[in-house]
Amino acid sequence: MQSIIDEIAEQMLLTEDKGKVATYIPQLARVDSNQFAITVALPSGEIFSAGCANTLFSIQSVSKVFTLTLALGKLGDYVWTRVGREPSGDPFNSIVQLEHEHGRPRNPFINAGAIAIADTIMQGHEPKETLAEIIQFIRFLSDDDSITIDEKVARSEQKTGARNTSLAYFMASFGHFENPVEKVLGTYFHHCSIAMNTVQLAKAGLFLANNGINPNSGTAIVSPKRAKRINALMLTCGHYDGSGEFAFRVGLPGKSGVGGGILAIAPGKASIAVWSPGLDPIGNSKLGTLALEILAAKTGWSVFGE
Ligand code: DON
Repeated sequence: MQSIIDEIAEQMLLTEDKGKVATYIPQLARVDSNQFAITVALPSGEIFSAGCANTLFSIQSVSKVFTLTLALGKLGDYVWTRVGREPSGDPFNSIVQLEHEHGRPRNPFINAGAIAIADTIMQGHEPKETLAEIIQFIRFLSDDDSITIDEKVARSEQKTGARNTSLAYFMASFGHFENPVEKVLGTYFHHCSIAMNTVQLAKAGLFLANNGINPNSGTAIVSPKRAKRINALMLTCGHYDGSGEFAFRVGLPGKSGVGGGILAIAPGKASIAVWSPGLDPIGNSKLGTLALEILAAKTGWSVFGE
């Protein structure tokens, strides 16, 4: 495994077209696109890394896997009254389907869906309390208490968050919101701004590769059935309107973020985190996807077979 990922990291550094960093969040536009990291975490506890696996990056929409998991834990099937389970086929920040579908976003991973999920998790609590819960959960999963929110990124998102603010108020106009819109947005912007490295992220995702059990602590985070379903949503919706292409090329459940991170799950085998800040036109990490495509081909880990 180490030699496979060393080779991938070397190949990525030599690849000329590394994609373009996200600029609509000014703080993300400052990140050097010439970086690559990969970590493969196995349920046995073994961890393999290559590239700058200790460098922190903004996990952005990858955080939506953890907020969905928390929401399902707190509220079970109620979650599905607020968001659907269908791929949207539209960009992550699209508003177009919301009116037709009466303010119930297609899935929990598009921005509108994740904002609705943030609302369900809050249950009347202040953003600070909810964020503390989200951070605690991620720290527990990663077995790493150093994980925090990058306040600069959060402020940067908030300042330029006109689209997300519009999505949230539009949904609220259908009467679905339980908490004040600005507080829900504050929670959403801040959980997207959690900073992690690939080692922490791969460890945090291990429960999804291990039937719901976090092998670090032996704790059942979710039931095997729920782990399977979260993986199903990651496969079908985790890369927005690039989900079909990701399934075609990589064949693994995966969740991307505009910070350039991707968490991919090989069920029963591994949790993989990759990071390279340059994005493709859809907003998914260009080299991250390529690296996972090569890794899946070399290991035969695609869920569709070798
Ligand atoms: O709301 C946003 O636009 C960002 N906080 C997250 C978007 C994102 O990561 C989309 N992923 N590829």
